Amino acid sequence: MSFGLSHGRDLDTRGIEVSAAELPPLPDEIVLDPRAGFRDPRALFAHPDRPLELEIGSGKGTFLARSSPRRPDVNFLGVEWAGEFFAYAADRLRRAGATNVRMLKADAVEFLKWRVPDGVLHVIHLYFSDPWPKRKHHKNRVIQDEFLAHAWRTLVPGGELRLVTDHDEYWSWMEAHFERWTSPVRTRNVPDRIPVPAFERRAFIPPEGVGEDELVGTNFERKYRDEGRSFRAIVLRRPAAPA
Ligand SMILES: C[S@@+](CC[C@H](N)C(=O)[O-])C[C@H]1O[C@@H](n2cnc3c(N)ncnc32)[C@H](O)[C@@H]1O
Repeated sequence: MSFGLSHGRDLDTRGIEVSAAELPPLPDEIVLDPRAGFRDPRALFAHPDRPLELEIGSGKGTFLARSSPRRPDVNFLGVEWAGEFFAYAADRLRRAGATNVRMLKADAVEFLKWRVPDGVLHVIHLYFSDPWPKRKHHKNRVIQDEFLAHAWRTLVPGGELRLVTDHDEYWSWMEAHFERWTSPVRTRNVPDRIPVPAFERRAFIPPEGVGEDELVGTNFERKYRDEGRSFRAIVLRRPAAPA
């Protein structure tokens, strides 16, 4: 598909964009069976056997553009709901000749819930997720108990949710959730089907190739670093299956 954007250059997302044919509309059966719309996202790649990492909110695609050539044995799926960022990132990845990256224009939270089967993701990346600072907008934050349940469900045992934020108040909100989701004592927020602790905390080790003093080197990290903000980073690991 070709997007004509105001800055005068046509953005070409072909080959990178997940098309409507590849992800048809949700079937009617979804009403009775919430799993009826599941499609294995690994099948979107030329080498479906490779581990799959999903990025929520790819923005201009800097994380994907850096990671994909450095880790050719991994497949990356970027999910971005804002049309202009989506098109910019997909065009950028196409021009770079990336063969192990696809991009989907969608709400990543809904995608995870309705489309992604159990245990297919090795990593979920969430960098500088929108903080929605007003109380009445907190419901729009990506980090919610329901999201964490779907992150747990879609990750392989041993898989990771990797997260960086600059926002202190959103971080406190996240911490309150992570407290429950890493506790060995079940709270009512963690469904009975999920063994506790649902996640283990791990230190965030920056991926290969980021700049000195950087955590992930995304556009927002650079912008906020220039403004002198500090960052919080964490890895939540779904425990490996018992031997
Ligand atoms: C603050 S920007 C960060 C972009 C990039 N991760 C970075 O660090 O530079 C947040 C991005 O997430 C996207 N986004 C927020 N919620 C989303 C959702 N539920 N599904 C898909 N994209 C989302 C926004 O459109 C925006 O591009």
